[in-house]
Amino acid sequence: MRGSRYCSRCGARRARPVDGAVPGRERPGTGLRAKHGAPDGSKRAPKAPFVRVRPRGGARARLRRGRARACGGARARLLRHRIGRFSGQGDHRAAQWPAEYRAGHRSTGKAPTAPTDRPRPRQTRSALVRDSHAPTSDAPPEIDTGVAHNARVWNHWLGGKDAYDVDRQVGDQVAGMFPVIRDVARADRAFLGRAVCHLAGERGVRQFLDIGTGLPTADNTHETAQRIAPEARIVYVDNDPIVLAHARALLTGTPQGATAYVDADVHDPERILERAAETLDFGRPVAVMMLGILNFVLDTGTARDIVRRIMAAVPSGSFLTLTHPTFDADVGGEGNAAAMAFWNEHAVPPITARSRAEIASFLDGLDLVEPGLVPCSQWRPDAGTPAAVPQYGAVAVKP
Ligand SMILES: C[S@@+](CC[C@H](N)C(=O)[O-])C[C@H]1O[C@@H](n2cnc3c(N)ncnc32)[C@H](O)[C@@H]1O
Repeated sequence: MRGSRYCSRCGARRARPVDGAVPGRERPGTGLRAKHGAPDGSKRAPKAPFVRVRPRGGARARLRRGRARACGGARARLLRHRIGRFSGQGDHRAAQWPAEYRAGHRSTGKAPTAPTDRPRPRQTRSALVRDSHAPTSDAPPEIDTGVAHNARVWNHWLGGKDAYDVDRQVGDQVAGMFPVIRDVARADRAFLGRAVCHLAGERGVRQFLDIGTGLPTADNTHETAQRIAPEARIVYVDNDPIVLAHARALLTGTPQGATAYVDADVHDPERILERAAETLDFGRPVAVMMLGILNFVLDTGTARDIVRRIMAAVPSGSFLTLTHPTFDADVGGEGNAAAMAFWNEHAVPPITARSRAEIASFLDGLDLVEPGLVPCSQWRPDAGTPAAVPQYGAVAVKP
């Protein structure tokens, strides 16, 4: 009977509402509804993974949160607050943006703003997020739905369903300014599949360190690698709580191999290597996968140093696979500047693009696998010569 303190089926006492929680709406998977099913008799499983979504308070609460985040200057905070405020209200929100950022605008010609190159405290490890080796806790990771996040927007561009309103709005705005971005996302994922096939199939690599994992989608690194070699061992690294929550729930590997997840920032390669060493044997070749991640290290020297430190830890015969966006006009990157400037005002983490020469410098000291550093759509394509996308890709081996 609704409202009774005891369950009519098993006699168990109902949980007392905590802090104004609505009875019968306990955390998924913990209440009597999870045990017996819905009142209509259907036994619906709680959605996995369960993540705690930051509650949407009133405008004042959002403004306070916006201030507390302290990410970027006052103008950036104000713009982010506006997006939070109008999140879910469609184009009404766009009317609040400065004219130069409204849909389809391409003519500012502004270079992306250059925020400081440092890990973002708000986006880096949440105290509530744990990596696969950390002590377990029942606390779910906290997801910030007030600001667009790269992993979720990337998923939106790939046609996935794991984005929030704010991610879709910013993602669509960027795609309006730089329509090729969806082709870039698809080409990047297809390149990932071909590169992993090459490494596991033709090069016999059995260990992968995938930094900047992204939300799980079709043919993730471990699926492709373990289809070829079930004993392959994969460590995923990301610093976005939603990626880690989904990865733990969805990226399960073969019993013969291993799949692990590490919550770490790419700016901290020592932590990545230390945690990865719990799953990977650094005495044997490792394929380091850095797809769409060095673009979040804003200083080129710092990015080069991160690559150098990671590649120094793996033996000869190891590989570096990377993709990276570019402004280079000959591969269609000229529209990237305005789109990235918009991104850096409205989303996290801040991003940059680089010239082919700058990206090539990340591969110094390594031997390029044919066809070298090319638009990732043209790296060993399955058929024909697809159009170039403004995202370079390469695979290189440590001599
Ligand atoms: C563009 S997505 C690329 C995903 C995947 N590698 C692919 O190519 O499809 C970039 C990923 O890097 C992650 N990321 C961004 N900055 C990071 C950082 N400082 N440390 C670790 N991961 C980061 C984001 O959360 C996101 O999942």
